[in-house]
Amino acid sequence: MSATPSPLQPSDPDRPDTEDSAPDLGQLPDRLVPDFIAHWVVKTARSAGMIDWYGHVFGARVVHEDDQIAFLTWDHESHRLALVKLPPPVRLAFPLSRWRRKTYGIDHLAFTFTSVEKLLLTYERLKKVGISPVWSINHGPTTSLYYEDPEGIRLEFQTENFPTAQGTAEYFTSPDFAENPIGTDIDPDYLLEQLRAGVEQEQLLKRGAGTRPGTTPRSNKRAITWKTL
Ligand SMILES: [Fe+2]
Repeated sequence: MSATPSPLQPSDPDRPDTEDSAPDLGQLPDRLVPDFIAHWVVKTARSAGMIDWYGHVFGARVVHEDDQIAFLTWDHESHRLALVKLPPPVRLAFPLSRWRRKTYGIDHLAFTFTSVEKLLLTYERLKKVGISPVWSINHGPTTSLYYEDPEGIRLEFQTENFPTAQGTAEYFTSPDFAENPIGTDIDPDYLLEQLRAGVEQEQLLKRGAGTRPGTTPRSNKRAITWKTL
């Protein structure tokens, strides 16, 4: 990789790159920004259901719980998720709250699995306890399964379709992406069957690989329905 600044690099480092070509990710300027996400906090009138759900999905353990709050974690962080407990009847005051994300505000949080095998085995594990995705799609850059917690908060479980970040950045500037920026729906059960049959993981990440023969998946904007929105 050249030490010379890429001609695609923006002249003002505080301005985003607006070029049509992908920036050289090895040449991006250092900026003083947060290093990584630590946790999120949810005000919930369904704390028991939330603790149960995150226990299944993330293997979350409760590190503290009292009448007002619960802290959960599943890795090295002191807490990944905190629940501020509201009295259960409060849910009746906000009957449409779980639909809010369909129209306004944060839509989802995304979590990366380092292989499609891990993603599919998680899909299988959760399906066995009755937790299934509300949307399964190969977006192009990622293969993604969207879940919703008991409060309707949407979580995307994804794996990268390209082996390098540079490959992904270049895909964002490709005609393929311009033609179909949303992606093509996938059948995770079919992908799992293919994985078990010995198909290379790299093949499973290709667009169309998750289409069961004889079926026609929704693609691009047609993939966005009331359910998947
Ligand atoms: Fe996403």
